[in-house]
Amino acid sequence: MHPDLLSNCVTPIGFIDQTVLSQGITHGSFCDLFAGTTAVGRHFKRSGFQVVSNDLMHYSFVFGKAYLENNAIPQFTNLGLHFSKKASSLFPADTEILEQVLSYLNALPAEQGFVYEHYSDGGSAGRMFFSQANAGKIDAIRTQIQRWREAEKIIESEYYILLAALLEAVPSISNTSGTYAAYLKFWEARSQKPLLLPIPPLLPSSLDHSVYQCDAAKLITELNSDVIYLDPPYNSRQYATNYHILETVARDDKPAIYGKTGLRPYQEEKSDFCNKDKALNALHQIVSQAHCRLFLLSYNSEGIMPHEAICEIIAGYGRLQVKENSYRRYRSDSDHEKRQYKPEKAVVERLYALRMN
Ligand SMILES: C[S@@+](CC[C@H](N)C(=O)[O-])C[C@H]1O[C@@H](n2cnc3c(N)ncnc32)[C@H](O)[C@@H]1O
Repeated sequence: MHPDLLSNCVTPIGFIDQTVLSQGITHGSFCDLFAGTTAVGRHFKRSGFQVVSNDLMHYSFVFGKAYLENNAIPQFTNLGLHFSKKASSLFPADTEILEQVLSYLNALPAEQGFVYEHYSDGGSAGRMFFSQANAGKIDAIRTQIQRWREAEKIIESEYYILLAALLEAVPSISNTSGTYAAYLKFWEARSQKPLLLPIPPLLPSSLDHSVYQCDAAKLITELNSDVIYLDPPYNSRQYATNYHILETVARDDKPAIYGKTGLRPYQEEKSDFCNKDKALNALHQIVSQAHCRLFLLSYNSEGIMPHEAICEIIAGYGRLQVKENSYRRYRSDSDHEKRQYKPEKAVVERLYALRMN
C-alpha cells in the first residue's frame, strides 16, 4: 500500500508486539476491532495468532478476506485462461498463476465507467483524482473482477484477492496528498504512472481467521479473545470521507455522489470516535463489554479524547499500564515527486494496556 495511506493509518506494530509478549501472551486469539489496512492483524497472523479483524469500511473487509481469512495461494481453476507454467518453477503452490491473472487484468483496455466519469478530468465534473488513463483502467479491472465473480469463474477468496490487489494499486497513482478529502490542482508525477496491480501479500496459516464489517461496539458483545486491540480514529475526520473513493472501488455500487470531491453518502460508516461528544461513551461501551485477558488501546496526544479521561474510564476494568512513544510528525510538501517532509511538532503515541480483572 502506498506510504501516504500507511502513514495516515498505521500504528507502530513493534510497540504492540512487545506489550503483548511482555504480558506472557505468545499465542491464542487476537482481535483487531479497528483494522484499517489490516497491518496489525497480518502481523499477529504471521506470529501464529488466530485473528479476528473488524472495521466499518468495506475496503478493510476486502483486505481482511484476502490477507487474513484466506490461507491459500489461489489457483484460478475455473477461470479458463491458458496459464503457462515456467519450466523453472519448482513450487506448485507459488504465485505464478496469480501473477498471470494480474498481468491479464493489467493489460485490459481502459473503459469509461464510474471512476472515469466522476474522478478523472475526462468526466463532466473535471475532478483530478486520477489521470483519464488510470481511471479507465480502474473501471475496466473492477468490472472484469465483478463479471468473473458473477459468472462463478472465480471463487470468493480469489475475488477478494484480486480486489485487494486493485485497492493496493489505487493509492499509488492517486493525485492526492494522501487522503481523498481533496485532489491536487496539478498533476503529481506518480499520478501519471500507469496503474499496475501488485502481487498482494498473502499469508499461509493453518488457523481459521475471521473478518467482520460492523460497529466495534456491536461486535464486542460477541467476542471472547486473548487480546482485544483498539486503534480508533483520533480526530473528527471520518474515514468514510477521507477514503470515499477506495470504498466505492471496493463496493462497486455506483453511489449517488455529491459535493466538490464526489463524496458517497455515509451513515452506517460514521464513527462515534470522530465526535468529541460521543467518543468517550463509545470507548466506555466497548471496554465495559470486553471479554479478554489483555485490552489494548492505541491513541495519541492530539486525539479528541483526553488522556486523563481515557485512564479514568478504562482503569476501572483492570490493571492499567500506559506506554508512551514520542515522535515528530512530518508534514509533506506535495508539490513535486521528491517530497520534502518538514517536522511539525512532537506527538505522544500511547498504548494503554489493561490486564482485565
Ligand atoms: C486509525 S485507523 C486504524 C488503522 C489500522 N490500525 C491500520 O493499521 O491500518 C481507524 C479505523 O477505525 C475504523 N472505525 C472507526 N470507527 C469504527 C467503529 N465504530 N467500529 C469499527 N471500525 C471503526 C475506521 O474505518 C478506520 O479504518
